[in-house]
Amino acid sequence: MPLAHWLARRHSLPELRLNHSLPLRILVAITGASGSLYAQRLLDNLDPGQHEIHVVLSQYAPAVIAGELPGGLRLPEGVTAHNLKSMNAPFASGSNAPDAMVIVPCSMGTLGRIAHGYSEDVLLRAADVVLKERKKLILVPRETPLNLIHVRNFELLIQAGAIILPANPSFYTRPASVEQVVDTVVARVLDHLGVAQTLVPRWQAEKE
Ligand SMILES: Cc1cc2nc3c(=O)[nH]c(=O)nc-3n(C[C@H](O)[C@H](O)[C@H](O)COP(=O)(O)O)c2cc1C
Repeated sequence: MPLAHWLARRHSLPELRLNHSLPLRILVAITGASGSLYAQRLLDNLDPGQHEIHVVLSQYAPAVIAGELPGGLRLPEGVTAHNLKSMNAPFASGSNAPDAMVIVPCSMGTLGRIAHGYSEDVLLRAADVVLKERKKLILVPRETPLNLIHVRNFELLIQAGAIILPANPSFYTRPASVEQVVDTVVARVLDHLGVAQTLVPRWQAEKE
């Protein structure tokens, strides 16, 4: 392992400041919440040559993808897709957990099921595994407004170690297309994964 990466890990420095990313094993899960383009843009910006990328779709995801992504979801070459109903995926076991799992977009149904320990398919089981093995679980809900059940589930998941990263785009970089708006969220996901990204310029704090 290069010295800079070793130092970053040892001292919990943000690895995103490094010029390149450590190879990671990342599971991208897509649910039936609106916002399939967030998932597409994330997949478009994860390099399967550098990282091991796996994908799983919830039962309702294909219906929403069909409505939102003309031409459907494009899986980049080198990405491995898994069957929701088969526990034969590596990450169904704590002995083979991924480094990180991103659920994007994350429906409130899936979020609630994870918060309450349901594990009846490989997506839910993987999230359970990621939490128990203290790996990184990033949930990207789009829902608005929120009810108390959503907020309580957010709280439970944060207490269990998950990162709730709502699909709330920012506008200070003046995005000029839907894709650029979406990328303001995808960039934050990549930052939290520790994957180097140049999708969106970083805010330059004023020099004192
Ligand atoms: C067009 C469309 C958009 C939807 N958007 C959302 C959403 O943003 N958030 C959400 O929680 N559910 C949303 N839903 C409802 C979910 O698809 C539904 O609750 C589904 O059962 C979720 O299943 P899953 O968690 O297995 O994907 C949407 C449904 C449709 C048809």
